[in-house]
Amino acid sequence: MALNVIMMGPPGSGKGTQAERLAHTHGIPKISTGDILREAVHIGTEMGLKAKTTMDAGELVSDDVIIGIVSERLRHQDVGRGFILDGFPRTLKQALALDDIVSKMDPLIIVDIFVPDEELVRRLGVRRVCGQCGATSGATAESIPSACCDRCGGQLVLRSDDTEEVVRKRLSVYAHDTKPLAEYYRDRQTYCSIEGNQPQDSVTRALEAAVDSTALALKQASEKVGESRY
Ligand code: AP5
Repeated sequence: MALNVIMMGPPGSGKGTQAERLAHTHGIPKISTGDILREAVHIGTEMGLKAKTTMDAGELVSDDVIIGIVSERLRHQDVGRGFILDGFPRTLKQALALDDIVSKMDPLIIVDIFVPDEELVRRLGVRRVCGQCGATSGATAESIPSACCDRCGGQLVLRSDDTEEVVRKRLSVYAHDTKPLAEYYRDRQTYCSIEGNQPQDSVTRALEAAVDSTALALKQASEKVGESRY
């Protein structure tokens, strides 16, 4: 059975960090809409140039553009054993579109990470990304203030949407557009809520345990359906 996971949570809750770890453990792709958009900005495509203004203002890129990106990406062969969607869906329209896209796939496991706002503002204020290639650094302004990018040696800078003003805007957009999605998913047996305000390794352990037990329950339920057919 494929492991099809969506990773939800406010900006800075650790979606990207945990999605990367889960994808690595299970050998399936992490698909981050934020990374795809930043790559388009970096290359300078027309879509990337349009998206940059929206992203730098802390607003959401249009549903149609994002749904198009995800729907195309989920047609690739490498999602056969599953995928981790990081940062999608963020609106009800995106959630409805995703249910449609995956209607013939194994059920979604929904991971929703919770962290208080002040901790999110703190984390994003010290996060550093490479000013040259855009990679997020493990080093922060607090941990190793003079570090360089591991990938290309570039200088580490504040991400353009991580200023306190834009972070607060992103948090209000999250509260208005994305948080209500918990209501859309909460009644599903595959909805897992995770305490994100603890050390990264503890979050990983809690998340792995929740995902593994949900995947097992799904497998057992599908085997039962299979047995009852014969
Ligand atoms: P995106 O890149 O997805 O940004 P985001 O959702 O705001 O999330 P972040 O990347 O800021 O944080 P994260 O939750 O991944 O946390 P991370 O692991 O990095 O989107 C950017 C923009 O693109 C959006 O604003 C929007 O404009 C557009 N966009 C993207 N998707 C879209 C969509 N579906 N629809 C419309 N528009 C879309 O961790 C953050 C920091 O905290 C790191 O430094 C990390 O090391 C640290 N950290 C992680 N876990 C812990 C922990 N447990 N304890 C302490 N520190 C921790």
